Amino acid sequence: MLPRLFLPPDFRDLLPSNPLGMPLPACLSRRSIRSIRTAFALILSLSLSAAQAQPADAALYASGEKLFKGNCASCHKVDSKMTGPALRGAKVKWEGKGDLYAWVKNSQAYLKTGNELAVKIWDEYKPTIMTPVALTNEEIDAIFYYVDNWAPPVADTPKPPTGEPTDQGSNNWLWLLVLALLFLIVGLSLSGVKRSLANAVSEAEGKGTLPETSRMQRFRAWAWEHKVFMSFVGLFITVWVILKLWDAAWVIGVYGGDEVPHYKPEQPILFNHTLHAGKANKGNLAINCQYCHSSAEKSKHAGIPSVNVCMNCHKAVSTGRTEAGTKEIKKIHQHAGWDPEKGAFTGQEEPVRWVKVHNLPDHAYFSHATHVSVGKLECQECHGPIDEQMDVAEQWAPLTMKWCITCHNEREVKMAGNGYYDEVMARLNGDTILGHGELKKYLEDGKITVKELGGWECAKCHY
Ligand code: HEC
Ligand code: HEC
Ligand code: HEC
Ligand code: HEC
Ligand code: HEC
Ligand code: HEC
Repeated sequence: MLPRLFLPPDFRDLLPSNPLGMPLPACLSRRSIRSIRTAFALILSLSLSAAQAQPADAALYASGEKLFKGNCASCHKVDSKMTGPALRGAKVKWEGKGDLYAWVKNSQAYLKTGNELAVKIWDEYKPTIMTPVALTNEEIDAIFYYVDNWAPPVADTPKPPTGEPTDQGSNNWLWLLVLALLFLIVGLSLSGVKRSLANAVSEAEGKGTLPETSRMQRFRAWAWEHKVFMSFVGLFITVWVILKLWDAAWVIGVYGGDEVPHYKPEQPILFNHTLHAGKANKGNLAINCQYCHSSAEKSKHAGIPSVNVCMNCHKAVSTGRTEAGTKEIKKIHQHAGWDPEKGAFTGQEEPVRWVKVHNLPDHAYFSHATHVSVGKLECQECHGPIDEQMDVAEQWAPLTMKWCITCHNEREVKMAGNGYYDEVMARLNGDTILGHGELKKYLEDGKITVKELGGWECAKCHY
């Protein structure tokens, strides 16, 4: 990890206020120069001490961090209890008392040796089982190097809130509206002035006042005088309305995407994706998506986890971050039929009725395995930043046919190292008996898109 860089604060903030109103350099008294110096010295020493706080072996620390977050962080925290005990200091604790490597690799197998320390820990935490992992001793060493040198993350300075781009858009509209109103008022009062002047002139000429006419009558007379201009305005407005209607027709019945609100139904339990699947360095649990949506890799459906999957952790975790969170966890216990006081199941289970968020029509075929395992797409490409900013799951993409085929048109198929495509590659290179030059033309632009392999064929997506 690199040492945290300290940005120097705004230079002018370091200066004392400028009472004489002199240009800046002139008012740099000795005192202010001294305070600038102190400030820079402070910054320097802070960044140095930040660098010193880093562990000696940054590479080992980084690889340990990665392994810890990938394999252990879903159940362990470094310095506090979660599903499993806090890991700081565990290595020292185990020295001479048991084989830590064997325990981490497969704790249930190691328990059979009857090791005293292992049995003691198991008695405290059973029946939660630690999942066996295929790690080498060096990798386990790296994990404990990370754990023992871990420092709590320094809180990031909060960024000033940035306006959403859509807000910007509506702001512009607001300004246009205000301007239009201003023009209208000015126009109306000018026309009033013009009318009184015309009246005055007419009176002065001895013709008496002009006949009283309503605004509407006057407008009609004016419009009649300016026929050509008015027909252009009329045409413009009609075309504009038609275009707007055409645009709106494209998104009728569509949820998600840039133009319309995202579908975000209320769920029976407030399950928070950001908290569970978000990045660990932002204080989240960083659970892998497929821990819960385990069939995404091998089947059409990603699947929604049963309440038992929640109970792997929530047998032990019964308090949330807030009181409301704790209430939600109680709901899990009710559905699973778990009595946290007695620490036992009551047998009265009741599946959670989650509300389905994504729903393709029945005539469209979509498979997760094709996209996740073969296409190697990240979940976030289609489901958006669900692990970063979705406390409640929402439909992020529009799921229209246009959306599917736009990506198929642009996206390159990842051929290299993909067993499924070795045969296609071989044909492409013409080195089998099946070899034919036709596929070569796909390579003319140097890439093969999903479309070129049939991703635009109706029958691939429609039953
Ligand atoms: C599925 C949850 C889970 C995962 C994943 C997990 N552990 Fe554990 N771990 C536990 C539980 C629960 C215990 C307590 C003993 C028991 O119930 O088996 C434990 C105990 C331990 C202990 C003994 C702690 C002590 O105080 O002596 C160590 C060390 C340990 N785990 C290391 C690891 C490491 C390293 C990883 C990652 C490679 C890991 N665990 C992954 C659940 C987990
Ligand atoms: C701890 C378990 C867990 C983890 C980890 C998890 N999810 Fe979920 N996910 C759920 C549950 C439970 C639901 C159903 C409730 C809801 O929609 O909020 C769900 C719903 C969803 C939905 C909406 C499903 C629908 O009804 O159409 C999507 C999409 C989704 N998850 C994607 C992800 C992605 C992507 C990740 C990883 C970044 C992830 N999930 C991680 C448990 C999990
Ligand atoms: C190519 C786009 C794409 C990718 C990549 C993708 N999904 Fe989906 N996901 C969809 C679509 C489309 C649906 C709606 C499917 C339906 O209604 O039949 C969906 C539905 C879901 C659902 C609702 C339950 C279900 O299976 O229908 C979950 C949960 C989900 N996705 C999770 C994930 C996770 C986790 C990943 C990553 C491992 C992922 N998705 C990757 C497009 C994608
Ligand atoms: C791998 C462990 C793990 C799994 C699996 C898991 N959770 Fe959690 N969950 C936690 C932890 C740990 C917390 C407490 C976070 C904290 O206090 O920092 C938590 C907190 C919560 C909260 C309270 C949130 C809040 O705002 O306080 C709810 C609700 C919740 N989980 C629901 C679920 C549901 C529903 C499932 C199953 C789909 C699930 N969890 C699966 C570990 C897990
Ligand atoms: C973000 C990009 C992306 C989106 C969005 C997407 N796909 Fe795909 N799709 C791919 C990629 C990449 C592949 C190729 C996987 C491979 O074979 O390597 C693929 C392959 C497929 C295939 C198999 C094609 C074949 O030749 O065998 C089908 C069927 C498919 N997608 C259906 C859909 C449907 C239906 C949707 C919309 C609901 C959709 N896809 C949205 C990227 C996408
Ligand atoms: C990559 C996948 C894909 C391909 C290829 C594809 N479609 Fe679609 N198509 C879809 C999806 C997904 C929907 C549903 C969109 C929605 O609900 O808004 C759809 C919707 C439709 C609809 C509208 C049905 C309705 O309910 O409104 C028609 C018609 C249609 N497709 C015809 C075709 C024809 C004809 C072809 C071949 C030229 C084709 N599709 C190729 C994915 C695909």
